[in-house]
Amino acid sequence: MKADFHIWRGDASGGKFEMYSTEVAEGMVVLDAVHQIQAEQANDLAVRWNCKAGKCGSCSAEVNGLPKLMCMTRLSELPLDKPVLLQPLKAFPLIKDLVTDVSWNYSVKKKIKKFKPRAPDAKDGTWRMYQQDIDRVQEFRKCIECFLCQDVCHVLREHQLYDRFIGPRFLVYTAALEMHPLDIEDRMDDLKKANGIGYCNITKCCTSVCPEDITITDNAIIPLKERVADRFYDPVKRLFRLFRSK
Ligand code: F3S
Repeated sequence: MKADFHIWRGDASGGKFEMYSTEVAEGMVVLDAVHQIQAEQANDLAVRWNCKAGKCGSCSAEVNGLPKLMCMTRLSELPLDKPVLLQPLKAFPLIKDLVTDVSWNYSVKKKIKKFKPRAPDAKDGTWRMYQQDIDRVQEFRKCIECFLCQDVCHVLREHQLYDRFIGPRFLVYTAALEMHPLDIEDRMDDLKKANGIGYCNITKCCTSVCPEDITITDNAIIPLKERVADRFYDPVKRLFRLFRSK
């Protein structure tokens, strides 16, 4: 059967949706259809991809208005009686067609304080950790940096607070470091001020689009918010700090 695709074509100076019709078959994903259109009708169509297995996070785009990995979105999941709408991520500057410039994310990551392990427990220079503590951070390490969560978060997407909020991806990254059983670095001040954790109002949109099913809000962001609240707003701790500083 044939299916129609409305694909955004253009660059930072402007553009429009172009309609393409192509033959689709059982088992095809959106990226297959894009490649077919590229091969048959639009050789200059820009699309970023790499592994085609949901592990590199390159082919992020908006499919029928929702942030998705094109390689993991089966055509059979979509209503093909109307055109499939394909657009670049809205939260990042457009380079061309379906490709956006996500480099802001890499600059954010560089500013987060790195892993700082405590001294080894044993004479042979090794550490002891509880399995339950390791299990807790394992989930966060599944992130493939597709930036779909960054794209959907209204703080970046609508309010464009790029200078004040690091976004859900980097709150997950911070959580992986903060909850690591060996880490002794202190990131609370950064989380509250430079990284703007207070801007997250727990809409959970980030969790709903994560292709790795990371429970971003409940397991990463809320525990970090609790730590920040404990540090800066717990009245007993504040009093204690006041006396200590005298
Ligand atoms: Fe944004 Fe996720 Fe919070 S979408 S507002 S970071 S819960």
